[in-house]
Amino acid sequence: MPKVLITGANGQLGRALQRQFSGKYALVLCDLSELNITSFTACRDAVRTYRPDIIINAAAYTNVERAEDEPDAAYAVNAIGAHNLALACRESGTKLVHISTDYIFDGEKGAAYGEYDSPNPLSVYGKSKHLGEQLIRDTGGRYFIVRTAWLYGDGHNFVRTMLRLANERTEISVVADQHGTPTYAADLAKFIEQLMHTKYYGIYHVTNAGSCTWYEFACKIFEYAGKKVSVRPIKTEDYPTKARRPRYSVLDNYMLKLRGFDALRPWEEALKDYIANDCQ
Ligand SMILES: NC(=O)c1ccc[n+]([C@@H]2O[C@H](COP(=O)([O-])OP(=O)(O)OC[C@H]3O[C@@H](n4cnc5c(N)ncnc54)[C@H](OP(=O)(O)O)[C@@H]3O)[C@@H](O)[C@H]2O)c1
Repeated sequence: MPKVLITGANGQLGRALQRQFSGKYALVLCDLSELNITSFTACRDAVRTYRPDIIINAAAYTNVERAEDEPDAAYAVNAIGAHNLALACRESGTKLVHISTDYIFDGEKGAAYGEYDSPNPLSVYGKSKHLGEQLIRDTGGRYFIVRTAWLYGDGHNFVRTMLRLANERTEISVVADQHGTPTYAADLAKFIEQLMHTKYYGIYHVTNAGSCTWYEFACKIFEYAGKKVSVRPIKTEDYPTKARRPRYSVLDNYMLKLRGFDALRPWEEALKDYIANDCQ
């Protein structure tokens, strides 16, 4: 039974991986209190102690807004933390699956981004994640970098926020000029399980199929949850935020297709499943 160590095990993706892997692998589940990835010594000690075959880095500093005020904290986790794991993995020959984001792109292309497109992040969060990718690549070793987007699962996410707001308000304004792809953490976890057994190292874009705006996403959430609420489309300028976000960060799952993996299901289907079965 392969041994898999998961960092950030209590996050949305960490929990989805736990569910997907349970009973099939020897799991070493580490959240922040068990393994703080900003410490190289702690990462190396964990690898030496547990001797995992694979490490999945689901740990990250994910608060896009707060990262603008706390860049050091964001870089420490997303860049240095990723580097620490890559260094420890290379030393031991351990496979590393690292998760990155559509926010490494500036969204100005106006079409879906392939793995061959050049990143140009707009926010501290995006820059810190991009640096994490670069440091892993510079380290070498056996790594997969999986870029995903608009993730939801068991944790804080857009779907849960919309459903909470629907209980508090009759009208909700949602940005209608940013495009991306909502992605169900359970579907991403299934794909990671397939990928991690291969030796097809490199960068992968992995999202559910299709795309939408945050406004369209919100409308579908209310439709599937049977909530009667008026949704008002607004422009990015009408909802000022500290962090700049890409206008069009749809990810073409190009390498996934070229490598012969099945595409993930359409985002609407995944969302319906999540709301019916998995969204408390
Ligand atoms: N959420 C999205 O919309 C989205 C979109 C694209 C890509 N991604 C990427 O997908 C991955 C998973 O995201 P997610 O939504 O599952 O994130 P999440 O729910 O915020 O979980 C991240 C986990 O990392 C832990 N963590 C934070 N700092 C740590 C440290 N120094 N050492 C170890 N653990 C630490 C957190 O613990 P605490 O809660 O105790 O701080 C939390 O359990 C991340 O790489 C993220 O960048 C996410």
